[in-house]
Amino acid sequence: MGPYVKYLCAAASVGLFAGFKTISKRRKVLNHPPIIDIPISDIFNNPREAYEKALKDHGPVIAVRRKGLLEFIVDEGLCQTVLTSDQSFSFEEAMAKILNLRPYVSFFWSFFREIDDLVQNGINPRLSSILEQICPVFCRSAGRAVGEKTIDMFEHAHVSIAEAMIVLIFGEVVFLWLLIFELMGLQGYVTERGIEVVTDVATDIAGLTGMYSNSSFLGRHFPTIWATLTWVKVTCTSILAFFRFIGPQVWKQLRSRRWVAGEEKPATVLEYMAYKHATNGTIGFTSFLWIMSMLLGLIFASVHQTASVVVWVFFEVAMRPEYLKALREELHHNVDPVTNDLDPSNIGEAIQKAAFLDSFIREVMRTKGDTLTTCRMTAADIELGGHLVYPLATRVHLNPTHHPNPTVFRPERWQGDNARPAVMSSASYISFGLGRWACPGRILAVSEIKMIVWSLLVKATPRLEGNKYRIVDPLNITSVPPQGELILEPFSFSA
Ligand code: HEM
Repeated sequence: MGPYVKYLCAAASVGLFAGFKTISKRRKVLNHPPIIDIPISDIFNNPREAYEKALKDHGPVIAVRRKGLLEFIVDEGLCQTVLTSDQSFSFEEAMAKILNLRPYVSFFWSFFREIDDLVQNGINPRLSSILEQICPVFCRSAGRAVGEKTIDMFEHAHVSIAEAMIVLIFGEVVFLWLLIFELMGLQGYVTERGIEVVTDVATDIAGLTGMYSNSSFLGRHFPTIWATLTWVKVTCTSILAFFRFIGPQVWKQLRSRRWVAGEEKPATVLEYMAYKHATNGTIGFTSFLWIMSMLLGLIFASVHQTASVVVWVFFEVAMRPEYLKALREELHHNVDPVTNDLDPSNIGEAIQKAAFLDSFIREVMRTKGDTLTTCRMTAADIELGGHLVYPLATRVHLNPTHHPNPTVFRPERWQGDNARPAVMSSASYISFGLGRWACPGRILAVSEIKMIVWSLLVKATPRLEGNKYRIVDPLNITSVPPQGELILEPFSFSA
């Protein structure tokens, strides 16, 4: 082949490549969802109206810029496809992006699978005994709260759930420590510090998802700088404190004995992980670090969000006294006549039977106004490659086709022929997500919410000052709780 032919071939291939690129680029532009310019103030202050209008005018898929990213928002008709087609829409990639940890995405692959396994196999099969263990935590907290004139409901729920998670992770041994520390006069410090470390780490990691960036100038206008600074801050403060305070206790338990899988049934979350990660019966330092990361992930997934939803549910109970009678009737069967408090024995079965409270919770979760909560990242489709995709939750939850009179609060709609428990996901109810990655902790979450509501209702009647609450962040309804002044008026079944 002469040199000219070579040059000709090279030129032809460059031409072909350029032509192909132009065609595919044109295709890309043609297939690209319309980019809609929604003013940032509308996104943060009226997300439901802003996105719904844009979808109505340009849907069913639109692209909208927010905090430096071009995000795709889809209408209710595409919700199921986006949340359940794992090959095309990746949950792990989306989480890594949202948490600003894209470089570690392969780490995340196994991380999320491991946490999923931990909840599905380390928590859910032992749920009824876990609920018996943690019920007294909620009863004690409620006893303290009712003594106060007004309570910070989020603080109450956050602290109670953090303490419950410590019991769930460490089991009965926690009580042994507390007994020893009590004898040494240190119990108050140890319990409070442990809870503080857990609540701080839960809040800070939840903050990494960007929920507080909405209210910060840096977060809105320089998201990358905000993310980097927040990561550095969280690592040097709450994550470091978690390793310093919880780390030695975890290490001590993990090294206290041999862990041969199948020899005994694990009785705590920590034991479950120890059996799973031990090599030749022992836990080395790398496995210890991995287990600590799992605990961080578990606390992040389980504490903050549940506490926030508790506030939503309890505020709605306070705002709707017409439902108190039905809620209390259900609760009355499970009150110990001697202590006049919840009976922890068999609490699992009791809350499972609490159908009205369950419907109430489901109705709160449906109507509270979630917008961009569940998310995936496009994986296979090159046209949409590398973008976060959100189904607009209000189009799902407040859709008249699925929910007649959608904005009317009516827990009864989830009873009778249409009975659906609060934990049951579907294409018309995505509060706990949908598909392979639907929240594995939702039974624990709803059980905790029920126990917190019951433990307060057994002792008090809630009222909100001015009969109102304030939505703080309409774009982050589930992770940023509403604010209101809650008053607990003493109540007793025996009176
Ligand atoms: C009311 C409280 C809660 C709400 C509203 C909630 C909601 C969600 C949602 C929307 C997702 C994403 C699902 C998807 O994209 O399809 C999720 C994932 C997850 N949730 Fe929850 N969750 C709650 C409590 C909990 C609790 C208590 C735990 C742990 C015990 C937990 C563990 C997880 C985990 C590990 C994931 C990652 C997905 C997976 O592993 O399959 N969540 N949650």
